[in-house]
Amino acid sequence: MPQLFARKPIAELQPDSASPHSLRRVLGAGDLIMLAIGAVIGAGIFGAIGTAAAGQTGPGGEVIRYGAGPALVFSFILLGAACALAALCYAELAAMIPQAGSAYAYSYATLGELVAWIIGWDLILEYAVGNVAVAISWGDYVTTLMRGAGINLPAFLTTGYRTALLSSDPAIHGLLETVPHVAGLPILINLPAFGIVMLITWLLLRGARESSTANNIMVMIKLLALGLFIVVGLQNIHPENYRPFAPNGFTGIHQGAAIVFFAYIGFDAISTAAEETRDPQRNLPLGILGGLAICTVIYVIVGAVLTGMVPYQQLAVADPLARALELAGYARVGWIVALGAAVSMSAVLLVFQYGQPRIFFSMARDGLLPQWAARVDPKTRVPWTTTLITGVAVACAGLIGDAAETYDLTNIGTLFAFVLVCIGVLVLRVKEPDRPRPFKVPFPWVIAPLGAAACVFVMWGLPRQAWERFGIWLVVGAVLYIAYGYRHSRLRMR
Ligand code: ALA
Repeated sequence: MPQLFARKPIAELQPDSASPHSLRRVLGAGDLIMLAIGAVIGAGIFGAIGTAAAGQTGPGGEVIRYGAGPALVFSFILLGAACALAALCYAELAAMIPQAGSAYAYSYATLGELVAWIIGWDLILEYAVGNVAVAISWGDYVTTLMRGAGINLPAFLTTGYRTALLSSDPAIHGLLETVPHVAGLPILINLPAFGIVMLITWLLLRGARESSTANNIMVMIKLLALGLFIVVGLQNIHPENYRPFAPNGFTGIHQGAAIVFFAYIGFDAISTAAEETRDPQRNLPLGILGGLAICTVIYVIVGAVLTGMVPYQQLAVADPLARALELAGYARVGWIVALGAAVSMSAVLLVFQYGQPRIFFSMARDGLLPQWAARVDPKTRVPWTTTLITGVAVACAGLIGDAAETYDLTNIGTLFAFVLVCIGVLVLRVKEPDRPRPFKVPFPWVIAPLGAAACVFVMWGLPRQAWERFGIWLVVGAVLYIAYGYRHSRLRMR
């Protein structure tokens, strides 16, 4: 039994960068902040923000979650604080253990193999499943853009089956009956979502440096798009839209926060680039905290402007920022912002499609996944097998999935990982108090427990269904660990 909690010595987590099987160190602090913004600003602020403000009902009119209304800014502030606490913990562990596996690697060193496996498995929800939601949202925006340009793609090629099944909009739910059927099944696929993921996968297979440059360009575009929204939106605020300010009280703020948490996911993803970072002890904390601070300020401003422009009830759409501009009479600006949104989400897809294979790579290197998953291309140094498998799996799920239910599953999985990272900081402070810490969490016995509690609190705002699915996911993971990882773990074989 104690073997299940065997911890990997931290010294072993320092990779040998001269080896041809290791990744290449090319990224600096500026690249990391850009990667963080690239990962963070995306479907959450351009898509999920609408549901967070307006709430959500099911096909039968039942309330799935209450919206925050204009009090959404409080949801953002609450989340910014919770994420800052968790980010500090991430920064301490990432600087101490600069290794590709992120929270997986940290928990291997702190809480032992079983917890590490659970986290590695759980991170699939954050990275791969999260990207399914982003790809779907990307598809929605691109469909709108094309319509604006006079190109109408048939609905059955731009709407996933789950989206039609779960929608409360009769026009979308009705597609189940009206689209072509094959063998009794309606053909409802999101072809744009599939296409963008395959394109990103191809880009990543060419190597990390090229991808980082592409990311920097996309980040500039997303900042310009949000800047344009804020400038035009500020001139179209109607103070009466702020009344009532919190239509569903604290419940709305809480449940709104639980879905728009998606907008914050990603600042931690750059820790997966630790093995490709120069001077990680200095650059990782800078990248993580700097990226999070910039994004929080932007979100609070966008939330305040958006809910001041239109009554919050009208925001329950796939493209709320573009819609708000359109309703204010700025359809052309809305179109430009939608273009920026599509570019932003491409950057998010890039960072997560980059992170997921590196977590699999770490797990395979430890023997918890089969060895073919640890293969690195000798020329590009890219973990190509896992990059390809992740790409195909995410693209296929994007074909038929629904964004809102995917947001929930991603959020619960990510928050759980944050909780374990906060706990991990304390465990390591007790077990290895003298190990050099290039970055230290200030007041760790306050910050880390508070971070864990704040994340559990946000999780609590998610619908019951998300908890049930999360439970099933963990059980499947446990079965796989017993069937494979437990027998092949390098650490325990010794
Ligand atoms: N935070 C990222 C997004 O909003 C995942 O798309």
